[in-house]
Amino acid sequence: MTAPGWLDELQLEPGPPWHAMGTRALDERPWLVVDAGRDEELARKRLLLDECHDVVVAARPGSEAVAAEAAGLVADAAGVGLADDRPPLEAAALVVQEDLCVLARREGRWCLDAGVVCFPSMWRVGDKLGLPVTAVHGPVPAYDDELADRVDRFLDRLDRPVWRRNWLVHDSPELHLPAPPSPHAAPTVPDDLWLRSERQTLRRLPATGGILFTIRTQQAPFAVLADRPDVAARMAEAIRHWSPELATYRGAGAWRDAVVRWLAAR
Ligand code: HEM
Repeated sequence: MTAPGWLDELQLEPGPPWHAMGTRALDERPWLVVDAGRDEELARKRLLLDECHDVVVAARPGSEAVAAEAAGLVADAAGVGLADDRPPLEAAALVVQEDLCVLARREGRWCLDAGVVCFPSMWRVGDKLGLPVTAVHGPVPAYDDELADRVDRFLDRLDRPVWRRNWLVHDSPELHLPAPPSPHAAPTVPDDLWLRSERQTLRRLPATGGILFTIRTQQAPFAVLADRPDVAARMAEAIRHWSPELATYRGAGAWRDAVVRWLAAR
């Protein structure tokens, strides 16, 4: 596989601060992203909805209107009508590669009201259902200090669609990861590792006043970084600076040192 273009969109500044908002206006960029993996991923989503529905879907009573508005926007963007054999947000999640979450403002806080999340990176949508966004991020080290207030204010003011990207290193190419996979004791670098990135978007839902959060998971074998020594060098520095808490949160215990050495040698 050749190095994907999204490598140039990764935030690689060494911390602290450990996190950045990184939100940018979508402007002329596509809202939702289609690629060659579409058919396979949509088939996988259908299977997951059929076989482990409650792992990938959650919805609070009362979230129907905001979910239906979100589903309508997704269907319009995909240029398809939605099947009416399942709730609209589920039907919408089956026509795009993105995972879909809707937020509603309740008692002054933005809360996760419904979601169809087939390709999570070690969380389950049902475990976060109903929680305010700060509590959704409970396990993220330094989130409270660096981001919580900024994200809440940002969501209050969200007036045009935005996107941001994160990046993670996984020792499995499995897209559906509601829990950590059995770890490689000492993964071989780069062959046992994958660079995984979520292209996330946020947009206001004008009719209901909710917010739609989309998560598009993309990944590449870690070895593609050999083709991008510039990115590899910056990533080595970023990982080398991670705090111990962040390295633990990101499951880096078994590979951090080897990855930094490999990246720095590209
Ligand atoms: C501008 C808005 C947001 C920012 C800046 C943000 C930032 C972050 C950051 C920095 C992480 C840690 C990932 C890492 O780097 O290792 C994270 C994780 C996460 N975010 Fe967000 N986020 C935003 C919006 C949302 C929203 C709206 C949701 C709603 C579902 C959400 C759900 C999550 C979840 C589930 C995780 C993983 C938490 C876990 O490990 O349990 N984020 N986010």
